[in-house]
Amino acid sequence: MKPPVPPAKRSIPFLALGGVWENDDVEAAENVLRAALRPDGNFFPLPEEAAFQSALAKHEGSAAAVVVNSCGTALDLCMLALDLKPGDEVIVPGLTFVCTAGAAVARGARVVFADVDPVTLCLSPAAVEAKITARTKAVIPVHFAGLACDIAGFDTLAQRHGVKIIYDAAHAVGTRYRGQGIGGAGLASCYSFQSNKNMTCLGEGGAVTTNDLVLAEKVRGLKTFGYVYGAQLRVTQIGFNYRMTKPQCAVGLTQLAKIDRVIAQRLERFVQMHALLEGVEEIIRPAGIEAGHGCHLYVARLDTDRLKCTRGEFLAQLKERWSVACAHHYPAVWTWEAFAGVDYDNRDTPVTQRAAQQVVSLPLFPSTTAEDVGYIAHAIKETVAAVKK
Ligand SMILES: Cc1ncc(COP(=O)(O)O)c(C=O)c1O
Repeated sequence: MKPPVPPAKRSIPFLALGGVWENDDVEAAENVLRAALRPDGNFFPLPEEAAFQSALAKHEGSAAAVVVNSCGTALDLCMLALDLKPGDEVIVPGLTFVCTAGAAVARGARVVFADVDPVTLCLSPAAVEAKITARTKAVIPVHFAGLACDIAGFDTLAQRHGVKIIYDAAHAVGTRYRGQGIGGAGLASCYSFQSNKNMTCLGEGGAVTTNDLVLAEKVRGLKTFGYVYGAQLRVTQIGFNYRMTKPQCAVGLTQLAKIDRVIAQRLERFVQMHALLEGVEEIIRPAGIEAGHGCHLYVARLDTDRLKCTRGEFLAQLKERWSVACAHHYPAVWTWEAFAGVDYDNRDTPVTQRAAQQVVSLPLFPSTTAEDVGYIAHAIKETVAAVKK
């Protein structure tokens, strides 16, 4: 029997807007830009903002949504709204983007890292509970890669200990938990519409969703200099300008209108990859690849003990020999040099420490073809065989 013909070489980059950014989005932005050319043109007021906010709240299942210019600023506003005092602690996962922890540090809290669940890689409510003290003010779980956290578990912690749960939902627009949107979970959720997320508002954007209308009002004020609009303009708190622009809000509407289709396409690619990697013992496949997963990232873990090589060596081979580019979500937050001078607690986080050395995000996007998925899986299997030789 002839050996199977290897697939023709392809180049697979990481980060593709294909299937996310389309002509209707360009038209939505262009309409706003062209309208501003008229003699009475202006980038204010923003009816698009109100429309985007109510569409987002509806889609994500929250009573209110406030759009801002990034998830980083959304988290910042939530930390501000908590009115943190010196000595207050905020519990976060270490396996996340730097700003999940940075938002708490920047507003004066001491960050306490709790471990992630070994199966889901989301923050573990049990690990959090072990670290709750009288100083704990809030917890920021991350819906990692688009998989919903154990929201019921965090609800229990909130009731039992009176801590506020603010979700980092940067990866999770469109994620479902027990069939429902995640936007009303906890006290608030912070979304990202930055360029490589499941939807984007011209490259940047974010939102806070909540069922707490008092918090929504506070965040709405803080994002716009503390203004309260009415017969007479008032400034009731010291705020900032964290607003999203008019063209971004217009694009948010077209992006949101197709998010379910985009996620369904992502899921198809994820499911295909999942099947192709089944039985490859050196690769730990992600959990929860099924309807409800937001499918932002397909984060596999390399079993580096079995492979007898580091992640860096594995990825270098994948890139050099097969032109497949992967990404790293994430190094443990406290390993960034900015944390060298920060007082934090990262005790009892073995799963995070190990996962941070093993995680590999595969280049799967709505525009990735079935052939691309087959090629990436083939490249991974060949690289596994090559490094074990
Ligand atoms: C988990 C997580 N939180 C927050 C952010 C920050 O999002 P933004 O760039 O919109 O500020 C990111 C960005 O990648 C992220 O991955």
